Amino acid sequence: MRLVHSISETRDSVAQIRSRGLKIGFVPTMGALHEGHMSLVCRARAECGFVAVSIFVNPTQFGPNEDYDRYPRTLGEDTEKCRAAGVDLVFAPSAAEMYPEGFDSWVEVKGTLTETLEGASRPGHFRGVTTVCAKLFGIVQPDYAYFGMKDYQQLLVIRKMVRDLNLPLGIVPCETVREPDGLAMSSRNAYLSPEERRAALVLSKSLEQARAGFNSGERRAQAIREAAENLIASEPLAAIDYVAVRDADSLEPVEFIDRPAVLLLAVRIGSTRLIDNTVLS
Ligand code: PAJ
Repeated sequence: MRLVHSISETRDSVAQIRSRGLKIGFVPTMGALHEGHMSLVCRARAECGFVAVSIFVNPTQFGPNEDYDRYPRTLGEDTEKCRAAGVDLVFAPSAAEMYPEGFDSWVEVKGTLTETLEGASRPGHFRGVTTVCAKLFGIVQPDYAYFGMKDYQQLLVIRKMVRDLNLPLGIVPCETVREPDGLAMSSRNAYLSPEERRAALVLSKSLEQARAGFNSGERRAQAIREAAENLIASEPLAAIDYVAVRDADSLEPVEFIDRPAVLLLAVRIGSTRLIDNTVLS
């Protein structure tokens, strides 16, 4: 496995791979790798001849009062995990390598997909995500890029960018990996105190409750949303940012679930903001 910090070295490596006709699978991450990330790596390893992982805490997707400075950075452990999983190349650039003096180009998906939910709560977030992913796709030139459904809205935004800009790669969605008790794995779980860790279970519990309701025939979005809100409100350490039932493709609001929908949550547990979702179809 190669650990590479420069764009030019990464380009040279992938050029050689392409000339050998191998399919390149790519997993973009911000590091602090956990089993959720590694499930994407495993899938890429199974489906592609060459696997690249990027590890870059992307400053342009964090708001001024967000956790950019304290986001966990564990490059040594991350590269070991990648090596053990059979990754071929880890690309870990500095912020100056990705955003040199004079950097001035942005990729932005407009419309409901980026304006609602995470886009409304975190202005500029998706512009940072689409810009860095467009750059990473240009550097790594993958055939396939693997994204987790844990960040459901991000997956839809990236898919739309790739479609709208005719980028020559496939986006592969991967199921959310959870802790045994249901909590979705996230690098931000590391911020939780033991008491907050217990309280955070209210997210996955409210999704389970919604799925149970849906499976026994409930189709009214408002009833599903209110049941989730009530359960979350019963946890004193939890504060709701949003609870929403939306169309699974457009993220437009739905009233009656007669086509695939998704229940999306953003909840603060103490000072840690967690997101989770479940598809209802
Ligand atoms: P990061 O939060 O590190 O996540 C990297 C990838 O891992 C994303 O596709 C995310 O959805 C996936 N992932 C995270 N937790 C997961 C889980 N529990 N199960 C399955 N997949 C999971 O998302 C980002 O980084 C950044 O926004 C990035 C796309 C790298 C751009 O900077």
